[in-house]
Amino acid sequence: MALRNILRDTDKTLLKKSRVITDFNKRLHVLLDDMRETLAQANGLGLAAPQVGVLRRAVLVVDINDIDQDSQTLEEKVVELINPRILARSGTQSGSEGCLSLPGVYGLVTRPDLVKVAAQDRYGKPFEIWGKGLTARALCHEIDHLDGIIFTTLAERLLTEEEVDAMNAADDEEYEEDSGEGGDLIRE
Ligand code: NI
Repeated sequence: MALRNILRDTDKTLLKKSRVITDFNKRLHVLLDDMRETLAQANGLGLAAPQVGVLRRAVLVVDINDIDQDSQTLEEKVVELINPRILARSGTQSGSEGCLSLPGVYGLVTRPDLVKVAAQDRYGKPFEIWGKGLTARALCHEIDHLDGIIFTTLAERLLTEEEVDAMNAADDEEYEEDSGEGGDLIRE
């Protein structure tokens, strides 16, 4: 495995549409392994192939939905999605969003609260995944990258770091209130 450079938003590659993957070969597996290492090192919740300069429809998303229910680490929660498509979406959530290609930039983005996504694994086998809350946000964000869409173009407005800190603090409070009742760990 090897670390790959994450492109910054000034790179025009990020504005291009990625191509469908038809060969589930060693080359793809090396790309996915490298993306896993790059994502872990960057401590992110998701990464799309175009962000490492490869215009192919592959993304990684950390599925944090059940992180409090077992002992898996974030790294073990990484889901590889090849040729992902959103099949269904419901509800809305409005919250802060960032991107590894735009360090220090945050925006207020409205996303579905729940999405159903169809994709293929690294061997080409089809599967479906549900994402809610932050995972739904991450799935939408990464799939957007495959169509050359950067979150800032969807943001109602950009947020200052103080605003992001305040929103995170509010989320923590919600968690403290919820945790006593066995509520959701992560809220958006
Ligand atoms: Ni991004």
